Amino acid sequence: MTTLSKSVRKAVLPAAGLGTRFLPATKAQPKEMLPVVDKPLIQYAVEECVASGIENIIIVTGRGKNAIEDHFDASPELEAFLERKGRQDQAELVRQIGNLVRSSYTRQKEPLGLGHAVLEARDMVGNEPFAVLLGDVIMTGEPPATRQLIDVYESTGEGAIAVVPVEREQVSLYGIVATDPPIERDGRQIYRIRDLVEKPSPEEAPSTLAVVGRYVLPGEIFDYLERTEPGRGGEIQLTDALRQLAKERGLWAVVCEGKSYDAGDKLGFLQATVEIAMENPEFGEAFRTWLRSLKA
Ligand code: UTP
Repeated sequence: MTTLSKSVRKAVLPAAGLGTRFLPATKAQPKEMLPVVDKPLIQYAVEECVASGIENIIIVTGRGKNAIEDHFDASPELEAFLERKGRQDQAELVRQIGNLVRSSYTRQKEPLGLGHAVLEARDMVGNEPFAVLLGDVIMTGEPPATRQLIDVYESTGEGAIAVVPVEREQVSLYGIVATDPPIERDGRQIYRIRDLVEKPSPEEAPSTLAVVGRYVLPGEIFDYLERTEPGRGGEIQLTDALRQLAKERGLWAVVCEGKSYDAGDKLGFLQATVEIAMENPEFGEAFRTWLRSLKA
């Protein structure tokens, strides 16, 4: 077991992308604020941080994204209104959102890529390990994916990223990892990453393990990002920096338990909505009954 001087206390949530896959809904509202059942997408990621022991979150926003900041702020007028109406449980629900975790914001002036968005948080993170959670990806599962990655970081002293197995025909939709055979560490299988390939064809893909939007990275990743030249679409890609990090410092792929949904995509959003609604304690059963009636 490696002794680490720094624990993982901070998380960066990039949320400055334009959300073009979800137009027209995202024309005037951030895609990270689209509700899945009854919570905006980004709240799932924030709750995952809290459940994983993260103390500080840094949300990278951009123009037109103020609703994200407002959502996690206090809302005294709304709370007072609900209390006046005797709706204490709703007032408490609203209050809790503002108190979930200490959050700070930084802005990405132009959407120059995921890597660029992460780099914008450099000063706020400092030279310590941190988690990255994509604001439009929902991951279910217990323990949460971010916690699983923190455990691997603490055990190996090297960065770890979440992957899920996908069908070979689907690999061209994802970043795919090339790895060594798995090793067992603390009861879970982890894979040393040799390379990462963006959206390979099914024939070229080195595996069927897809990168899904949860990372725990050492502070050195910022140096790699600084050196990363703009790649595909003129954007600074996190993948390019991760590839270098994997080669020079080491990086692990972890098949995280639970499901992941790319809710920034219309189909992924619908899948997340249906599956999370089916598990809802209040109306999940009624919803399942209704779904079964549709098949008839
Ligand atoms: P995506 O590629 O899913 O976001 O990035 P996008 O660019 O908004 O989406 P489309 O393809 O146009 O529909 C994953 C996460 O990274 C953030 C996004 O907000 C999203 O949460 N991101 C992406 C940034 O913060 N800045 C960027 O320049 C790009």
